[in-house]
Amino acid sequence: MRHFTSVYDLPNLNDAINQARQIKINPYGFQHVGKNKTMVLIFFNASLRTRLSTQKAAMNLGMNTMVLNVNQDGWRMESELGVIMDGDKPEHMREAIPVIGRFCDIIGVRAFAGFENKEDDYSEKILNQFIQYSGVPVVSMEAATRHPLQSFADHLTIEEYKTKPRPKVVLSWAPHPKALPQAVPNSFVEWMRQTDYELVVTHPQGYELDKQFMGDLQVEYNQDKAFEGADFIYAKNWSSYTQYGEILSKDMNWTVTADKMRLTNDAKFMHCLPVRRNMIVTDEVLDGPFSIVVDEAENRVYSAQTILKMILEG
Ligand code: CP
Repeated sequence: MRHFTSVYDLPNLNDAINQARQIKINPYGFQHVGKNKTMVLIFFNASLRTRLSTQKAAMNLGMNTMVLNVNQDGWRMESELGVIMDGDKPEHMREAIPVIGRFCDIIGVRAFAGFENKEDDYSEKILNQFIQYSGVPVVSMEAATRHPLQSFADHLTIEEYKTKPRPKVVLSWAPHPKALPQAVPNSFVEWMRQTDYELVVTHPQGYELDKQFMGDLQVEYNQDKAFEGADFIYAKNWSSYTQYGEILSKDMNWTVTADKMRLTNDAKFMHCLPVRRNMIVTDEVLDGPFSIVVDEAENRVYSAQTILKMILEG
């Protein structure tokens, strides 16, 4: 595996999960793999979990890490080719990316959807420039359309907590005050569709995800019905894909409450974090015994470590 931008980059999904479980048992057992290797983490957007877990993963493998928060610490970067650079962006990605590539062995990139142009976002304009120009392996730390390290950690967490071979996993839209990208739900659905799990997606009308991620999966528009018998509830907000980037609803009837969780099969509650309390999910559920959000976040280390190890081992 050279780059990691989606589940499709993995040579074998079951093998990746098994490797992550082994790494979790023995996280410092592969320090030789990253000796004298350097990872640069480039952030165009804020982060807590991805930044710390990916750095921790790299350090567990014996790597050095360098972090650049482009919009705070670096020169503002132009991404369009052929423009007259007379604005507020003094550096072009066309030079910056290969320069960064000369300083390291792996680059991690976080570049969210900008919501200005759906085609630019859905063609992964920024991420693909890193792949094209850096000369080194690139790991997506959440791009415009996918968050594969998160999905990997989600899968690992479900594997750890499932009590039956084919659990019912429900992705539920929930309300949020700001427009959020579709990267997490896109990636989660795409990843879950590679498993044997029973996957159900529920959201209000107008929040349909891109077909490339949903495939033949039908939406259950009745959230209560979707929750019936569920073993895992994965809550997330996203803005509309069809009316790109718009908020069509802030209906608090979609908030995950204890009453809704009672419809489930004592489902575990999952969310990628950060989460808006009492918008997405009530305090009672988030602080309750079925919430596994912190374990899910911890697994970000082992999913990232598995990916970096695979890349380093070539
Ligand atoms: N889940 C996640 O990616 O968290 P951060 O945005 O804090 O990195």
